[in-house]
Amino acid sequence: MEWSTELIKVDPERPEGDIIRHAAAVIQRGGMVAFPTETVYGLGANALNENAVARIFAAKGRPATNPLIVHVTGIEQAQTLVDYWSQEAQLLAERFWPGPLTLVLPRNRGVVPDIVTAGGPTVAVRSPAHKVAMALLLECGLPIAAPSANRSTRVSPTTAEHVLAGLKGRIDLILDSGPTSGGIESTVLNLAVSPPRLLRPGLVTPAQIEEIIGPIERTVQSTGNAPATSPGMLERHYSPRATLLLIDDNGKARTAELLAEGKRVGSIPLSTESDCEGNGLFVRPLPPDAAAYAARIYSTLHELDAKGVDTIIVQIPPDNEEWLAVRDRLHRASGRKDG
Ligand code: TXA
Ligand code: MG
Repeated sequence: MEWSTELIKVDPERPEGDIIRHAAAVIQRGGMVAFPTETVYGLGANALNENAVARIFAAKGRPATNPLIVHVTGIEQAQTLVDYWSQEAQLLAERFWPGPLTLVLPRNRGVVPDIVTAGGPTVAVRSPAHKVAMALLLECGLPIAAPSANRSTRVSPTTAEHVLAGLKGRIDLILDSGPTSGGIESTVLNLAVSPPRLLRPGLVTPAQIEEIIGPIERTVQSTGNAPATSPGMLERHYSPRATLLLIDDNGKARTAELLAEGKRVGSIPLSTESDCEGNGLFVRPLPPDAAAYAARIYSTLHELDAKGVDTIIVQIPPDNEEWLAVRDRLHRASGRKDG
């Protein structure tokens, strides 16, 4: 179904009360609102309303087997959604919430509808560290189910323009607070198993988690292999339209070959040099600093897609824990399951 999508600018530091009330009313009546978080933009709906959540799956073209993260104001609201709030959950939430850590816990079946969790026995909860997201959660007084606000399998949005490009005419409202700071999605940790297991690396690192709760199973290796226990993580994901190639060096030789074949090429070397372009080549260097790189990688992929390049060549960052999350996303974006 096509309907008009409203886009409203919101101050990221002091969200305007009237705009937040308007957005909360859309959520309360079962609509869909895209909003900024500290990681990427999310596409939110009332997590307790089955029909509202069904609209999210339809708007994204997301398979019903892939469960959603439920966003909450904090520990108290999270506790209403789970069957068992463990000591580990308490310690991690105290340390990292609000922030980019998603906790998977046994679901309270009486409260959380099947559709949110893809029928599974667990629910994923996270409290976002963004004033607009938090204002919206507080104003509507409901937990908000929100996947990243992109069409299924595509690159997550870090600006309202990215959301609009993918979901215009499919959702009610976009709250535009400019680019998000984190740039890649939250860490997902399964606390419903022992030892706890990393399902998706993110901005909170395994070492930071282990400092608080001791050893976890780091099932997601830097190879980008995903555990079967996180539905939807095995497919090609986070992908630009262009073919993405990961290369060990700065890719100059491969780039020259592709240009000679008449291809339009995007190139992302690890470097602090400036952007340059010409003759079908678009060079967008990203810095050899994991946090700064993460903040910009998705917007760079979106930009190169918009330029209509056929191939994007990415110099793969070093194989160490600091780069774990970025390497995971790059491997998925390239569609390589073997790392
Ligand atoms: O940073 C983020 O996490 C963003 C912002 C909007 O909060 N959200 C996000 O949502 O990335 P989404 O739906 O694009 O990714 C959620 C991931 C999916 O891979 C999903 O399979 C996994 O979390 N997930 C959700 N619920 C789960 C559950 N109960 N058990 C295992 N994995 C789960
Ligand atoms: Mg997503």
